[in-house]
Amino acid sequence: MPGLGRKRRVPVPRSPAAPGGQRQRADRGEDRVNEIASPRDVLTVLANADRIARAIHVLAGLNIADLLTGGPKTVAELASAAGADAPSLYRVLRCAACVGVFTEVRTETFALSPLAEGLRTDVTDSARDAVVMDGSEFFYRALGALDHTVRTGKTAFDHVFGMPIWPYLESNADSTGILDDAMEAINRRLGKRYLDRIDFGRFSRVADIGGGKGIFLSLLLERYPSCAGVLFERQAMVDPATSTIAANGLADRVTVVGGDFLTGPLPPGCDAYVLNMVLHDWYDEDAARILRQVRAAMGDTGGVLFLLEQVVAGLDTWDRAKLLDIDMLTVWGGRERARHEWDRLLSSAGFALANEPVAGEWTVLECVPR
Ligand SMILES: C[S@@+](CC[C@H](N)C(=O)[O-])C[C@H]1O[C@@H](n2cnc3c(N)ncnc32)[C@H](O)[C@@H]1O
Repeated sequence: MPGLGRKRRVPVPRSPAAPGGQRQRADRGEDRVNEIASPRDVLTVLANADRIARAIHVLAGLNIADLLTGGPKTVAELASAAGADAPSLYRVLRCAACVGVFTEVRTETFALSPLAEGLRTDVTDSARDAVVMDGSEFFYRALGALDHTVRTGKTAFDHVFGMPIWPYLESNADSTGILDDAMEAINRRLGKRYLDRIDFGRFSRVADIGGGKGIFLSLLLERYPSCAGVLFERQAMVDPATSTIAANGLADRVTVVGGDFLTGPLPPGCDAYVLNMVLHDWYDEDAARILRQVRAAMGDTGGVLFLLEQVVAGLDTWDRAKLLDIDMLTVWGGRERARHEWDRLLSSAGFALANEPVAGEWTVLECVPR
């Protein structure tokens, strides 16, 4: 970490004035800073950061943020409403509050903070469902076996559960629900950004390959009333996707097709194809198989493929794709890719990039046949 040779003062994230609650002087955090005096201290904090992550996962699962929307509550009130053990809940909340997730406005009384707002379920950009997935049993057990992956090069999930994640999901409805909810929340957060960047109005028929329950396709078709859509998914997803699309009033504009995108065939005759958060779930060999299926379906009619993915940023740069890549390594058996890795993969499957994707954030890779 740059600058760590110097003595640094790392401020504790500020908590907002608590709605309806006065903080007692002895409890105030406004002037408090944590002294992180040496690289060794910083290292220790980072090595213990999973405690903070776990606390946040648990608080998200208990919906503590929703319980605080009306104002501060005591731990006893929160524990009673959430069905939790009050003394244990207190210690978890206190841990999260020391990094600004919730704020302890009086001893054993907590309120929302700007960071905790993101755990509410009733805000448009809620992170709650994605946080619950990050802390879910099927994620966490795989992450816990990261050392297995690093020693063997094999995906930790397969080692822990005895099968890859996709077949596992076929017979684990709870985990599927957690994944679907997280994907919906992520699409609601990122979908508008993508739709602001890509003019889908120039296309008449858009295929969303591995399109989940159809959240992104629904947002797209709502924005572009003259477009029709095709959603291609695993057979097990056909019914949930059909229901979601019907509930969004789009049944007459969308065809849902079940199948395997590794073997195809994919729906032909569309002028735009979308792979949204799909290719990073796969290593190059399988990612290239999926791309070749898209290329075959597209034919030579001038179609465009949009990858909604990340491009890993350069040396030592802070980039959340580098964190997500650990999920790809352990859970999914895939990878986040740097620009040269995307170029190589696309070229191996008959595509070339037609735009300059931004590195270090979710972005659009516009691909055309070579
Ligand atoms: C990370 S999710 C992304 C879902 C969707 N694009 C979205 O943005 O919500 C990857 C999707 O690929 C689908 N998938 C996985 N393996 C597949 C296969 N062999 N054939 C078709 N779809 C598959 C999954 O069911 C899942 O919905």
